Parts: sequence; C-alpha cells; structure tokens
Amino acid sequence: GNAFADTLVLNADAALDVKTGKLIRPATVVVEDNTIVSVARSNRRAYPEDATVIDLKGHTLLPGLFDMHVHLTGDSQVHGYKRLRRTAPRSAITGVRNAKRTLAAGFTSVRNLGAPGYADLALRDAIYDGDVPGPRIFASGPALGITGGHCDNNLFTHEHKVVAAGVADGPWAVRQKVRENIKYGVDVIKFCATGGVLSKGTKVGAQQYSFEEMQALVAEVHLRGLTVAAHAHGTDGIKSAIRAGVDSVEHVSFLDDEAIVLAKKHGTYFSMDIYNTEYILSEGEKAGILPESLDKERKVGGTQRASFTKAVKAGVNMVFGSDGGVYPHGQNGKQFSRMVKFGMNELQALQAATINSASLLKMQDKLGSLEAGKLADIIAVPGNPLEDIQVMETVTLVIKDGKVEVDQRQ
Ligand code: ARG
Repeated sequence: GNAFADTLVLNADAALDVKTGKLIRPATVVVEDNTIVSVARSNRRAYPEDATVIDLKGHTLLPGLFDMHVHLTGDSQVHGYKRLRRTAPRSAITGVRNAKRTLAAGFTSVRNLGAPGYADLALRDAIYDGDVPGPRIFASGPALGITGGHCDNNLFTHEHKVVAAGVADGPWAVRQKVRENIKYGVDVIKFCATGGVLSKGTKVGAQQYSFEEMQALVAEVHLRGLTVAAHAHGTDGIKSAIRAGVDSVEHVSFLDDEAIVLAKKHGTYFSMDIYNTEYILSEGEKAGILPESLDKERKVGGTQRASFTKAVKAGVNMVFGSDGGVYPHGQNGKQFSRMVKFGMNELQALQAATINSASLLKMQDKLGSLEAGKLADIIAVPGNPLEDIQVMETVTLVIKDGKVEVDQRQ
C-alpha cells in the first residue's frame, strides 16, 4: 500500500461475500483512500498504527446498496395535480433532501429513472462535486414516451398545449430524443413501454410504443454505449421491450410464461417495485394521487407480487428497484422483507440490491461486493441479514468512496 494513504479499518462480527453467501467472521475490512484493500478474518493482517479503526461489534458489513429505480427529485407527499406547482429547480432542492435520506438508508448507488428539466443531472453533479451528500446517481433525465402516454403529462386540456419533455413519436423521433438526452449528459435512457398507475388516462395493461419504435430506441441507445430501462406493466409491452433488447424492465406486473422465457433468453433484468403498493393504497389519497390511479393500483399490486414470485422461481435476473419518490425516500430498505416474503431467500434479495444491480450498470468490476480492489462503498447493519432481513431497515454506518458518510452507532 501507499505509505501516505488514509487507512480505515472496520472490525465487525461478520462481512458478507454476496457472491457466495459466505460470512467471514469475525471480519476486518481495510480501506485505503477510496479502495478496499482487504477483506479477511480479523487479525490476519496487520494495519498501520495511525489507521482510523471503527469497532462494529454486533454488526455485519455489506457492500453499499443499489436501488435501480428512484425519483430523487420526486416527493411522496406531492402527487397528481399537486405536482403541477413543482418547478424543476424546486424539485432539485427536494432532491438534495432525498439524496441524503437515501444515502443514510445505506443506498450508495441509485438509478434515477425520470426527472423533468434534467434536475437529476444537477443533483448527480452536485453530489459528485462534494457540494451535498448523496449516493452515486446514474441519471436518465426526462423519460421518453408517446404522446398522451404514461411518460407524457395528461393533466391539462388541449387548450394548454402541455407536452412533457421526453415525448417523441416514431422511430426517428425517438432516436433524436435519445441523442438529445445524451447530449445533455444522461447515463441511462428510460422509456415508457406501457401505460401506468400514476398517470391520468393511461391503460396500465396496454402497450404504448410500437415494437418498431422500441427497436429503434434500443438500437440507438446501445449504439451510443448506454443502457436502457423500460417501464412496462402489461404483458405485450413487457415482451416487446425484451425482444427489442432493453437492459431492464421496470414494474413487470403482468407476466406470462412466454415473457419469463424471453427474459431468461435475453438476460433481461427485472426491477420490481413490490413495496410501493402498500404506500400508494394507504397514503396515496392524501398525497394527491388521482382516484383513477388508486383504482388501477388495486388491480396491479397483488398481481405484480404474484409475478415477482414466478420470476424468482424461474431464475430471471433480478435487481432491487423500488420507485422511491412515490413512497418516502429513505424507506427503500423496507422492500427487502417483501422480496423475501414473496419468494426470494435473504441472500437473493441482497444480491439483487448489490452484485446484480452492479452488473446491470456494468459496474461489477468496481462496485457491488466487498472485495480487494473495489471502490469502498460499505455499510454495516446491526445483526445478521441472512437470519433477519429486517435489519436492512436500520443501517448504522455508511461509507461511500472510502468516506464515512453516516455513523449512527449508539
Ligand atoms: N410509477 C409506477 C406507475 O405509475 C408506480 C407503480 C406502483 N404500483 C405498483 N404496484 N408497483 O405505474
């Protein structure tokens, strides 16, 4: 190691190797600057005398968590018509608050899938520059969608002529919109393949972009070396998106056997927000969610959970995606227990939120597991998550890029 490096030593009851499910216990993790230099049974390796040592008795160390579907600039109290009073600059400031909460919950990397006015890029860059704390953000900017679709804004009459920034119809128009988003600096492209729950006047089960448009869109994104996420609830939209070659499908509510076979064949990741329904149905009305959306949610939530169980059983690539911002940011960890309740074992749920998500982002060489040479994104939870997954809701220590960002040890 570098003699002048800042060394951080973490002594914990255990460290989880998310690739194998093995617990190293007791564990010592040594970090120099922003890099993990060793993960080993305690006392097997000497460390410099001037190292900062953190004692984590009773804790398990894990890699920093990933949430592959959040809207940091969104507010769970501000839905439906209430949202019309939110400008992009105001949303960016909300994002500052939410980025901090998300990081404190142990999520050191997120994909932000859809933000008006590129507010997510401003937030990403402010965090990167060290102005405000927050996770690593992989941001999409405005999501692409058809005229009148889930990713348009349908709250006005024609007299107001309101069109969301990501609206594009036709293969060349979607290619142009992808190029525009890349021009302004997005990391990932998001588009709406079907209707949705929270949009006005869209059929949640119905396809929106045609297959021809999806093919053009995905080809353009991959040509430019980015990845693409498709919002899709309905079966036809899910299958078209997979056939078009998307990297991940979001929500994935109405699955059939063919869709599962296709996802496995194409290696598509499923990002299923199975906690979300609980918040929407209990708190949504107060937050301004439209009655028609609450009706749609009643038809989607239960089916989506059954689809999750099927996808897990079939061995589809699963990531952790929660749609944070619909429900309150910082409560992301609540989804772990639902993932276990609806078919995963504890390790699978943790893999979804770590190594699988890192692979979807093509960051698996740098992030997603506790291994020498990887970036030091590390969290500690009070207990053993393989025995009690709910400890994921009370993350005690958060290290990002080798820096202690949150320390809530008593
Ligand atoms: N943003 C999504 C939509 O409007 C939320 C879906 C939430 N419901 C659910 N059961 N996951 O479609």
